Amino acid sequence: MATIIFQFEDTKIPTKTVTGDFTDTSILEVTEEADVHLNHNCGGVCACSTCHIYVEKGENFLEEISDKEEDFIDRATNPRLESRLACQCIILEDDAVVTVTIPDQSRIIGHEH
Ligand code: FES
Repeated sequence: MATIIFQFEDTKIPTKTVTGDFTDTSILEVTEEADVHLNHNCGGVCACSTCHIYVEKGENFLEEISDKEEDFIDRATNPRLESRLACQCIILEDDAVVTVTIPDQSRIIGHEH
């Protein structure tokens, strides 16, 4: 059983912990299942930067970052060392524990899911 902890830059949204069988699932797919709002303009194919998140803990449980993903992260708002694109963060292990911060979505132009 994997555990994903969602923290939010928008302090009005409380932290949300989601558990489930998420192996081979992306963090973006977990947000959809858990009803966490995260934009994803390109539909999850690593062709935009609207699903930008910060992986605070548990990066080692996720598929490694690709050059293409790094290129798109450079175009995101406030990229940091822990930046990833949620659609590219595939959870690799059954017992993964990952903490992510969702940027303030009101500053990102994109479709709601
Ligand atoms: S949804 Fe476009 S890169 Fe993730």
